[in-house]
Formats: sequence, structure tokens, C-alpha cells
Amino acid sequence: MSLETAIAQTELTEKNKEELIEQFERTVPEKSENKDIGVKHDPIYRTSEWYTGSGQIFPGKDGRSFEVSATYRLTAKVKLIDGVFDPLNPTLAEIYNSRGRCVAVIDETVNELYGGVVRRYFDTNEIPLEMQMIRAWEADKTPETVHRILAFLGKDGCDVSRNEPVLVIGGGVLTDVAGLACSLQHRRTPYVMVPTTVIAAIDAGPSPRTCTNGKQFKNSIGAYHPPVLTLVDRTVFRTLPTGHVRNGMAEIIKMAVTDDKVLFELLEKYGQRLIETHFATTEEDEELGEIADEVIYRELFSYMKHEGTNMFETYQDRPHAYGHTWSPRYEPAAGLMHGHAVSIGMAFGATLATMMGWISAAERDRIIALIRTLDLAVYHPILEDIDLMISGQKNMNRKRGDGGLWAPLPRGGIGNCDYAREVPQELLEAAISEHQALCATFGDGGAGVEMYLRDLGLE
Ligand SMILES: NC(=O)c1ccc[n+]([C@@H]2O[C@H](COP(=O)([O-])OP(=O)(O)OC[C@H]3O[C@@H](n4cnc5c(N)ncnc54)[C@H](O)[C@@H]3O)[C@@H](O)[C@H]2O)c1
Repeated sequence: MSLETAIAQTELTEKNKEELIEQFERTVPEKSENKDIGVKHDPIYRTSEWYTGSGQIFPGKDGRSFEVSATYRLTAKVKLIDGVFDPLNPTLAEIYNSRGRCVAVIDETVNELYGGVVRRYFDTNEIPLEMQMIRAWEADKTPETVHRILAFLGKDGCDVSRNEPVLVIGGGVLTDVAGLACSLQHRRTPYVMVPTTVIAAIDAGPSPRTCTNGKQFKNSIGAYHPPVLTLVDRTVFRTLPTGHVRNGMAEIIKMAVTDDKVLFELLEKYGQRLIETHFATTEEDEELGEIADEVIYRELFSYMKHEGTNMFETYQDRPHAYGHTWSPRYEPAAGLMHGHAVSIGMAFGATLATMMGWISAAERDRIIALIRTLDLAVYHPILEDIDLMISGQKNMNRKRGDGGLWAPLPRGGIGNCDYAREVPQELLEAAISEHQALCATFGDGGAGVEMYLRDLGLE
């Protein structure tokens, strides 16, 4: 299109015209232009206040080819907040007031417990609310659930704009599937996350990794699309079953072992009380409340420092994958709760790291002791299914780019880790035997409390 046509076809202000002329001059390259210089395209007419992007085009010297390179920037904020649905709390109202409505997706159980509170919040703030309830069991983590959410967000439902942040309220399952639906709606629609479980608050909620389960592998179909804002309000942990509070602790332990020794020590000292009191929400305890906030904040900061800044998981130095190398295969096969599958993976990883000389036996025992003190599992006989473990390892190797397994394991003391590029079959088998023998010395064989999923089957 010529510049004249571009101007004629657009309703332009004088300023826009100047910008367009300037841009046009910059973007039409000389045929022989040096590839190293390239032409920068500065975009105009921004349509999203959440995402920005720009790029460069490099003409080839042959006049028959060119290369495009583009980057985009996203900003994801995470905030600890008290009383997110207290009608006097302005945070959500400030986001949705100017849009004239709020389109929300809420977990079915959370709707039963907090739906009224959420509706009252938007009523009081005079913001129309369009809220869809979604059953989000582990068994519902499927492309069909993503389709249901898309039908609600899309033209047949609310016709959400690409600049309108969807509000997502729920646990890790809803976070994953609703985040994926938002990534597909208009190819990228922003969303605000209010996580309601510990796992969602400290891990799945702010995570860029949205997904559904694949056929054999958990979480294998998805897109990188973090919420633009995550509001973590621990008061909602009050209504969680204690088993789910414990389940979330596993993800906190993983960051403590691999990245934050202070966090590890806080868990050793206060972990049990935090589980008992659902992070100081079922009992009035101001001091424990401050500890709860510190634990949540330290974990989130450590996790997002690695996960939030490594968009597309291009780099495999990912400490938060500790405990997640073999578990995606054995977790669904054994019907385990996610946290227990991860804690078994972490305990096994500690045994493996000891055999590799990366940590001492005393450090391994300290890691396993912390996991056990919090009643999380450290062993399951499914580890002895060597074919499953090997095939899981192969799949993980492929998933991580085929350049290595890059299994994060503790190394150099609590609070540090390194990455095992390969774990040969003999070492894997020897580590399983060693870990089995170690866990056989525990009266319960290394089992955890309420370690199995209850919502496996659909009625
Ligand atoms: N994307 C990521 O990076 C990431 C990270 C960790 C975990 N995950 C995924 O998260 C999922 C596990 O998350 P989860 O443990 O939150 O499970 P979940 O979403 O199934 O929630 C657990 C149960 O608690 C209920 N619930 C939610 N909030 C409640 C509340 N405040 N009070 C009472 N009940 C409440 C839910 O309805 C559900 O029955 C797994 O599928 C896992 O793969 C994803």
C-alpha cells in the first residue's frame, strides 16, 4: 500500500499523519541495505494497555529475502492483599469501574463458599458482573473445559475485548484451564487472578504456564500466559480442607530447598503451625500471620524471580522444577495429589543428589525430615516401576528441548541447586533402590497424610 492510500484510508489527526509519514519513511528499506542495520518499526495505535511489542526487519542483500525479529513486553504484578472482596477494598473496583463491567470465571466450590461475597462486592461498587461457574476438578483439566470457558468469553457469551482483563477466581486447576482459555481468546486476552488455594496462591496462580492435561502427561498442552495481576489474599485458605493446605506446602518446600535457605528454616520452625491454622486464618495469631505473609512473599518472590523472568522456559535453569522431573508421569498413574507427587519427587531427588555427591547424607535427611514433619509423602511404590520412570524421563527430556534432562537437584547446601543433564538408567535404578531402602525404615513406609486425589472420576 502506498503512503497516500494509507493516509486516505484512515481517519487521521495531524499528529497521526506525521507519525505515519515518519514511520513509512523508516520502514521502506533500500534493496541493498546492510542486513546488520535493519529497520525498526515503531508501532502506533496501541490497542492493549497490558502488552507492548516492537520489532525490526532486516532486508537481505539479494533483494529477495528478509528476516523479522520482534519482541514483546508483558508486566505481571503480584500483590499480597487483605480482604480482596471487602466492598471497601478499592483494588478490583479500580480495575473494572472504567470498563463498565467485570467478566469473571469462578471455581464451582469457591462459588458455593464465596460467590455471594464476590457478587456483593461488585453490587456495592455498582459494577455489573458476568460470572461463569466452572467445575474444576483434576478430571476436568481437559480441552473440553477450555472450550466451555471460551464459549462464555467469546462471541456466543460475553464477547470479551482483547483489552478487558477477565477475573479468574479459584485453585490451580481453574488457573491453568482459564489462563489457557484467556491465551486463546483473541489470541491473548489479559486476566486478573484471585487464587483461592495455597498451590494457586504461591505457584499456579501467578505462573505463566497455563495448560490442560494431555493423554499420559499432566499439563502437557498449553501456552505461556501469566495473569497481568495476581492478588493473593490468604484469608480464603480458612475454608480449605487441611489436606489441600498441606498439598500446597510441597511447592513452598521446593523453592526453600533450591533457592532460599531462610524460607527453609521458617518452614522447619513454623510449617506445622501454618498447616494447622491454614496460614493463621483459622486462629487469631498476629505473629503467626506475619510469618505466614513472610513465607508466602519469600516463596512467590523466589518462584517468580525464576519462572516469571524466563518466559517460554527457554532456559532450563529452573529450580522450581525440583520434584517435577519424574512426577508428571507417576502422579496421574498413581492418582496422587499434586503436592504429594512433588514431595516424593523432591525426597527421591535428595537421595539421588547424595549419591551424585552433590549434598551430604545429613542434608538429604534434613530435607526428608522437613517433608515428613509436614505429613507429605516421601515414597510411593510406583517409583519401582522402572519402565514408567524411564519413559517419564524420556518424555521429560523431550519436553525440555532434547538437549538434556536438566533435573534440578540440591547441590552445595540447602538453598542452592544444580541441574543434572543426564541420569543414566543404572544410576536411576540404584537411586530408586537406595531411596526405597531408606524409606522402608520409616514406620509408614514414607506415606503422606491424604496423599490420594479424591476427584479422579467424573460421574
Ligand atoms: N501452572 C503451574 O505452574 C502450576 C503449578 C503448580 C500446580 N499446578 C496445577 O495446579 C493443580 C492443583 O492445584 P490446587 O491444589 O489448587 O487444586 P484445585 O484447583 O483442584 O483445588 C483444590 C480443591 O479445593 C477447592 N477449593 C478451591 N479454593 C477453595 C477454598 N478457598 N476453600 C475451599 N475449597 C476450595 C477446589 O474446588 C478443589 O476441590 C494441579 O492440576 C497442578 O498441575 C499448576
